[in-house]
Amino acid sequence: MKFSAKNINISKQKTDCIVVSVMAEPSQSPLVMELDKLTHGTISQLIKAGDISGELGKTTFLYPLPLANNESLKAKILFVGCGRADKFDHLNSKKAIQAIVKELLAKNIKTVSCDLLAINPSLSYDCARQFVEITNQMMYRFDEFKSDKAPKWSLSEIILACSDKYALSAANEGLLHGQVIAQAITATKTLANMPSNICNAQYLADQGKQLGKTYPKLKVSCLGEKALTKLKMNAYLAVGRGSANEPIMTVFEYFGATDKHAQPYVLVGKGLTFDSGGISIKPAAGMDEMKYDMCGAATVYGVMQAVAELELPINIVGVMAGCENMPGGHAYRPGDILTTMSGTTVEVINTDAEGRLVLCDALTYVARYNPAVVIDMATLTGACIVALGHHYTGIMGNDDTLIDELVTASNQADDKAWALPIDNDFQDQIKSTCADIMNSSGRDGGTITAACFLSRFTESYRWAHLDIAGTAWQSGAHKGATGRPVALLVQYLLNQSFLNQGSLNKNSLNQTKVN
Ligand code: BES
Ligand code: MN
Ligand code: ZN
Repeated sequence: MKFSAKNINISKQKTDCIVVSVMAEPSQSPLVMELDKLTHGTISQLIKAGDISGELGKTTFLYPLPLANNESLKAKILFVGCGRADKFDHLNSKKAIQAIVKELLAKNIKTVSCDLLAINPSLSYDCARQFVEITNQMMYRFDEFKSDKAPKWSLSEIILACSDKYALSAANEGLLHGQVIAQAITATKTLANMPSNICNAQYLADQGKQLGKTYPKLKVSCLGEKALTKLKMNAYLAVGRGSANEPIMTVFEYFGATDKHAQPYVLVGKGLTFDSGGISIKPAAGMDEMKYDMCGAATVYGVMQAVAELELPINIVGVMAGCENMPGGHAYRPGDILTTMSGTTVEVINTDAEGRLVLCDALTYVARYNPAVVIDMATLTGACIVALGHHYTGIMGNDDTLIDELVTASNQADDKAWALPIDNDFQDQIKSTCADIMNSSGRDGGTITAACFLSRFTESYRWAHLDIAGTAWQSGAHKGATGRPVALLVQYLLNQSFLNQGSLNKNSLNQTKVN
């Protein structure tokens, strides 16, 4: 799939289709006026009659037409309604682009040129980026295990017309970022969609090593059972005890800053390649979806790929905490008391609250990097789905600035996240009678008490926790990983790189919003 931005006159393009934006107001673009003239006023009549609609997201195809000058317009025209020009922001542009790409795929169009960027040239970065991300999302199929592979799409090229050199350079930057983010999302989805009989902690480690071969700037190391034992990561190890698959923590190190000792941004992903619940076993219905309990780790994988591809000028460490939670003769049990790497003791109430046990040791481990910030992402609690549904990732942490920056990035990337409170009132709920804390404390505020548990292990640095239980995958007819929150995190790291270096993406409206 090829994308480009060009200073061109779209009506003269030799592509199979030209996409023309129509506004929900009397005044239309110069391109619409030009086409109207060529077609003896047919187009303005169709708009007036409502057959070509300017309503946001409405599409109308017009097939090759004989023209006034005895030639014919060879391309199909796809009119796309864009609403009112003064309301055309990055959310409306997304709706318009979704409608365009859906039509292009349905009609098997191969090559396209598009004038959408002309509506609001200051949105050129956003629109260009959205075109790539949306096309990538709509064309994605996980058919590795299908005998009948999904048919290949025809769509092969999209050219975006730009009105001036500023719009052009912003669009080019949007295309670049879009491509990197889209590829990262695809990588995350494909890793996350792998079933647990293939994707175990060793598989995560192997994929990590492979990524390190592709990008030599990524240093990859793996800590197996022996290394984790030496480090006294007993909570992490306890979770893995019931499984025949060894728990392995895979660590990426990327030093992109000029100062190799600059404090790194650290990402930690929950990598439960399967969560049966262990001895506190889960009900059968929907248990298959617990293969997605490693979406946090898969997110780290995708983000590290994007970071290496963009060569961001900051230092970043990524951790995939790979492990499998199974019942069995060696499995840990409710009532067990575990001494974590930090020394804090934990009474196990429920072996299904395993994510926090794996994460607490991984979070203790990363303190050795003297991190600028630590962000963990985890499919941690079913309660997060009750609280925020499938639209918002839950954000909690110990640093309001960091949380605000993440929420801002989530809005910019349209990968939504919402902050939940974790004040001390909740901490009492995880007190144990026989250990320092317990790993489960009932239904009430389940997402927050899980974050409270983690907060006991993150006191030495700035930390945020993303609960992605509701956003990392979809159930039902469209069952599959979503690739969230890759876009949110890449956006955050882009913003941080920009603040640190001031050289990236100056034209982008997206970036100006941060300052
Ligand atoms: N991986 C699950 C959380 C989950 C459940 C995510 C369903 C998405 C859909 C996690 O390990 C878990 O089992 N959490 C328990 C915690 C409880 C025992 C305190 C939960 O949410 O029920
Ligand atoms: Mn669980
Ligand atoms: Zn889990």
